[in-house]
Amino acid sequence: DVVAVIMGGPSAEREISLVTGAAIAGALREKGYNVAEIDLEPKKLALQLEECSAKVVFNAVHGMYGEDGRLQTLLEMLEIPYTGSGMLASALGMDKAASKRIMQAAGIATPKSLIFVKGETHDFCGEILSAFKKMPVVVKPATQGSSIGVEIVKNDTDINSAMEKAFTYSREVVVEEFIQGKELTVAIMQDGGMAVALPVINIVPHSGVYDFHSKYTKGETEYLVPAPLDKETTRHVQELAVATYKVLGCSGVARVDVMLDEAGKGYVLEANTVPGMTATSLVPKAAAAVGISFPDLCEKILLSASL
Ligand code: DAL
Ligand code: MG
Repeated sequence: DVVAVIMGGPSAEREISLVTGAAIAGALREKGYNVAEIDLEPKKLALQLEECSAKVVFNAVHGMYGEDGRLQTLLEMLEIPYTGSGMLASALGMDKAASKRIMQAAGIATPKSLIFVKGETHDFCGEILSAFKKMPVVVKPATQGSSIGVEIVKNDTDINSAMEKAFTYSREVVVEEFIQGKELTVAIMQDGGMAVALPVINIVPHSGVYDFHSKYTKGETEYLVPAPLDKETTRHVQELAVATYKVLGCSGVARVDVMLDEAGKGYVLEANTVPGMTATSLVPKAAAAVGISFPDLCEKILLSASL
């Protein structure tokens, strides 16, 4: 039976997805699977799947089309089981504005924010200064990944250009308070129907900012696994991550990013339903910390594929 590893696609995270996909395809071949690699072309995907007689899909497409519910919808219609979250959780997870509203409704702490919609008239600077009373703030396109289009804005004179840039990537832009503290991430796996948190990772970028460069350049970031936190804080952060995974309705592997402030309180930034699986990526590091090798991790994820 053919496992189709779908990767690439036209999103801004295309190149990262190709690296993620190649790593997964290699690992599954090592495990003895018959793997077809598919570079997602939205209009041709149904045909691409038919041509390789795909029996199951391993989704390695980050961002638009693959992580936002569209690919999941098509696969539901074609009745081909796939890895990871379903349509709704994918769409919610991809959208930092939508997922924030749901987290807030569920009482999950997330940084204070303002959400702006493209085309509306706003005095960004005035509204942001009066809402947050302090800088820096973090400006994020609602539907991007890998920190693309994200700016940490220190001076109010830079707000407008950051907003303009973020709007080139997304219809909505989320402006968040900057949380000073530890940058953490938690991989969640499904084990017998239970959402289980892997060890917390503390991300320490040498530049001080975990941006695209720090994410994907070897040696630019230090990863502490397990994160140097006391037991109680570790549990607090893992619980936040599991609660987020559940309230968004995620399936399979996902990764929840959390900021821990200096008082030890966690704030969820977002959930990633197709987390990176490159050499510098986080989920493989968390899995390795509990003795799961990369090929074993890929096989586990594959075996959790469903409709
Ligand atoms: N969006 C990137 C791939 C991640 O979350 O790992
Ligand atoms: Mg993300």
